Amino acid sequence: MPDFSRFYALPITERVARLGVSFEDNLSLETADQMVENLVSTLELPLGIACHFVINQKPVWVPMAIEEPSVIAAASFMAKQASKLGGFRTKVDEPIMMGQIQLLDSTDWDAVQSIINKHHDELVIQANQVLASLVKRGGGCKEIIFKPLNAKMAVVEVFVDCRDAMGANLINTLMESLAPQIELLTGAQTGFKILSNLSDQRLARAWCEIPYASLDPNPTKDHGREIAQRIVNGYELACLSPYRAATHNKGIMNGIDAVAIATGNDWRAIEAGAHAYASQQPGGYGPLTHFELDNKNACLKARIALPLALGVVGGITQTHPRVKACHKLLGDFGSSAQALAGLMAAVGLAQNLAAMRALAAEGIQQGHMALHGRKSR
Ligand code: MEV
Repeated sequence: MPDFSRFYALPITERVARLGVSFEDNLSLETADQMVENLVSTLELPLGIACHFVINQKPVWVPMAIEEPSVIAAASFMAKQASKLGGFRTKVDEPIMMGQIQLLDSTDWDAVQSIINKHHDELVIQANQVLASLVKRGGGCKEIIFKPLNAKMAVVEVFVDCRDAMGANLINTLMESLAPQIELLTGAQTGFKILSNLSDQRLARAWCEIPYASLDPNPTKDHGREIAQRIVNGYELACLSPYRAATHNKGIMNGIDAVAIATGNDWRAIEAGAHAYASQQPGGYGPLTHFELDNKNACLKARIALPLALGVVGGITQTHPRVKACHKLLGDFGSSAQALAGLMAAVGLAQNLAAMRALAAEGIQQGHMALHGRKSR
């Protein structure tokens, strides 16, 4: 059971000792040179720990790599408030990613559709031969569909259960392997062959409840209910104005990206998926979180849903000593892509709640600066 008490007040060496994980080793130039081209050096970021997170009833230390002050304090503060009503709950989809093969130059897309349907099962078998090692780990190709887009263009979409991998390399290899067979069967030309970062089959959801009283910076004033109402007003602004929604979602991604970087995940893919998903809402680009008042139980109900295509195996998760240390610190949350996605959704929700509370109460500059100044964590 992690001891979160007054973690922020400890000297750095004692914080590390309390975690029981060493962060001593770092990325060597030799290893970094294998990763990218024209290497000259490596670049450091602060790595901090968010406290007080209880996710599906399990307390967990959350590593966050980020340069922005107050993000880690804000996440910890809101996680502490959420823990008063049980912390965060999560629900995460199976890790399904999709890749597209572009089709061009057919005069009869109905005929192409019938051919793809007729050969569906054999194409899935062929895909699973390419993905043999993933199939051994319980994943593999699940579905192949055909979608005409206009008179000149269509796509074949291939859905793959990537298990604990993010899936980009797996899917891209598969798309390139299947394309010649699809050309042969359909007579159409294939164009682009690549995964989609709009991984909306792979959603992570988290929710929590915050007592009204915990939202009030000055509990003696009993303004919690009013602050909760102002949070809902702010949420409604994000639903109506994409200019506010972009900033609202940026606050969410402050938390998610920081955990993504600490755990060696592709935060550009996560950002692309999150914002593309946010733009799929009925009213156009909108907030990834949702808020409502529960007056009966005197609490604010908050929830989040977004695509999270994560990996806990392969690449930098095996080669970067500090990324490995972060996975170790996360325990069970770092050992499966689905568990990590639930945790990251919870962190995004906490981050957004903290920003919303500060905006609805004392204002972001005053509120976050007070947290950065180490009060009330
Ligand atoms: C700053 O990094 C993030 C915020 O602007 C988010 C928000 O306005 O909700 C504080």
